[in-house]
Amino acid sequence: MVADAPGSAFPHRHLLAIEGLHPPALLAVLDLADTYVEQNRDADKKRALLRGRTLMNLFFEASTRTRTSFELAGKRLGADVINMAVSTSSVAKGETLIDTAMTLNAMQVDVLVIRHAESGAVKLIADKVNCAVINAGDGTHEHPTQALLDALTIRRRTGRISGLRVANCGDIAHSRVARSNIHLLNALGARVRVVAPRTLLPAAIERLGCEAFDDMRAGIEGCDIVMMLRLQTERMHGALVPSIREFFRFFGLDYAKLAAARAEAIIMHPGPMNRGVEIDSEVADDIHRSVIREQVEMGVAVRMACLDLLTRNLLANARPS
Ligand code: NCD
Repeated sequence: MVADAPGSAFPHRHLLAIEGLHPPALLAVLDLADTYVEQNRDADKKRALLRGRTLMNLFFEASTRTRTSFELAGKRLGADVINMAVSTSSVAKGETLIDTAMTLNAMQVDVLVIRHAESGAVKLIADKVNCAVINAGDGTHEHPTQALLDALTIRRRTGRISGLRVANCGDIAHSRVARSNIHLLNALGARVRVVAPRTLLPAAIERLGCEAFDDMRAGIEGCDIVMMLRLQTERMHGALVPSIREFFRFFGLDYAKLAAARAEAIIMHPGPMNRGVEIDSEVADDIHRSVIREQVEMGVAVRMACLDLLTRNLLANARPS
């Protein structure tokens, strides 16, 4: 394995998790992403920065936003981008995860973007390949680029992150987005809360550095940011909520519950949204309060910044043959 790149603004070989990243590295991504937001609003969005580089998207789980935004990010920076269709690949023939990754690595791919249902699977691959690896979501563990794009959205809207009160609400137990957000927001000085029914609150979640609530109004009271999360039924074994109606009644974000947050509080959601389950449609579409579409826009810029920084490190470390 190639070592991390000391001296760089983002001194890491891979982006596998937010946990363990220091504020200067996080801020380097956010600051660079700000410049890409502007570039993406220009008519000419394309640069030759990554010309000759190859980016491979390897998604073992469904994705709309994350996969497309990595594809756009790579293309806007001039890289060749390949989307592996996992269902028609040799994975369907029983090839192991490591064999698949080693095969792709042998094709001299520069950046591998991986999403997988198992927590830790992306790290397993990163330890074996000599390209840069970005975790696009591994099981219930982490989704680092989502937390970075959330932070960028917040910072551009409110001008800061430090001192803000942020409530992550919904299915905390299965959410890699919540975990990455807790680490990142804590590192940048926000005060983080998680709000969920007890069945969806991991026992030791406070140890990650957040306050836990099982009452929605109490949880979002006085908050600057209300982040809603989808019920990840695909990761649930057995019923953890009595019914969708019950869940919406007590934990779905509607105007009545939102009234407990600060008057200028903004509403976020990583998508995909289940309208009428964790969030009321009107609230989700409220152009004054909801920044859900801005989050999607920031996703492209943040991923461009990550690709830019990680490929600089590839240059710093000559690739082993
Ligand atoms: C999230 C994910 O995949 O973890 N979505 C995303 O990347 N935008 C959240 C989810 O699936 O609910």
